[in-house]
Amino acid sequence: MSFIEQPAPVARPNRCQLFGPGTRPQIFEKMAASAADVINLDLEDSVSPADKPKARETIIEAVGQVDWGAKALCVRINGLDTPYWYKDVVDLLERADERLDLIMIPKVGRAADLYAVDAVVTAVERAMGRTKKIGFEAIIETAAGVANIDEIAGSTKRLQSLSFGVADYAASMGMAVTGIGGAQAPYAMLADGEAGDAARARFLADPWHYPITRMVAACRTHGVLPVDGPFGDFSDPDGYRAQAERSAVMGCVGKWAIHPKQVAIANEVFTPSEEIVAKARAILAAMKEAEAAGQGAAVLDGKLIDIASARQAQVIVSQIELIEGASS
Ligand code: COA
Ligand code: MG
Repeated sequence: MSFIEQPAPVARPNRCQLFGPGTRPQIFEKMAASAADVINLDLEDSVSPADKPKARETIIEAVGQVDWGAKALCVRINGLDTPYWYKDVVDLLERADERLDLIMIPKVGRAADLYAVDAVVTAVERAMGRTKKIGFEAIIETAAGVANIDEIAGSTKRLQSLSFGVADYAASMGMAVTGIGGAQAPYAMLADGEAGDAARARFLADPWHYPITRMVAACRTHGVLPVDGPFGDFSDPDGYRAQAERSAVMGCVGKWAIHPKQVAIANEVFTPSEEIVAKARAILAAMKEAEAAGQGAAVLDGKLIDIASARQAQVIVSQIELIEGASS
């Protein structure tokens, strides 16, 4: 292990990020009343070019007017390849209420993208005398984003989370898929067998495994929260749950919701269950006893546990304490 300790990410729950277009102020109160930990008001791809100025004004007004409770409040700005982004940043930072916590930068491809946004944000914050420093969320959703992910994750202290954006990633990579997330029928392995044998088992694989795992490694290296992005078919709760459960196992702390129906599922999946928390606490207790007896390893329920098991267990206990602390 490197002698440099793995930095801790920001200590706030991030189980579900609920999105809503900046053009639909009618749903803002509903978003605020939802059980999502983070609210993302969108200026990017759910808003058409003609509507960008109006959406910007609507969001600036809503930041200060809606009661967002204890939620983290974020606005997704437009990408650096558009003519909109600088005005998104300047107008938000000049005119939106200090209630704004975060801005989300989409399609980040290199550390310099976040440096550029940081430079503008820092200048406007100073000019306006804003006391609260705006945090960043960034989306990894291009080939360059994955290729340069380590430098992106370590680029600025403002960065609190990275999200994996599945649809733009598929487009950027030239993948032959449609839909936003989920299984892809052609991405499968066929068991060994004779040519023409229709009974050969077919195993679906996960086309999103690599970029998500890569993102989690970059995030954990730099103390940034890894978040799984959208699942477009909001009429398929089972598909959403399956993808969320897989990301949770891979180390993500939460997932986006693009419809209110998805919020409760994300909260449930990314809140450690009573069963796993009890197991984790039992491991910590057993390891404490072992340590007192001068042992580095012990047996619990017929299985080996050691100091690494205690580290795993601590992740789960810390997560539930964070969530319970935030809701009390
Ligand atoms: N947040 C909070 N409430 C929402 C909501 C959201 N994102 N989307 C819909 N609702 C509300 C509706 O207003 C409706 O409320 P009501 O029962 O009081 O009338 C209820 O939830 C059911 O909505 P439904 O009719 O099923 O959906 P819709 O057709 O109004 O909208 C979408 C569907 C997908 C267009 C909409 O959910 C949406 O815009 N999602 C976010 C898209 C986005 O931001 N994308 C960018 C990130 S990928
Ligand atoms: Mg996108």
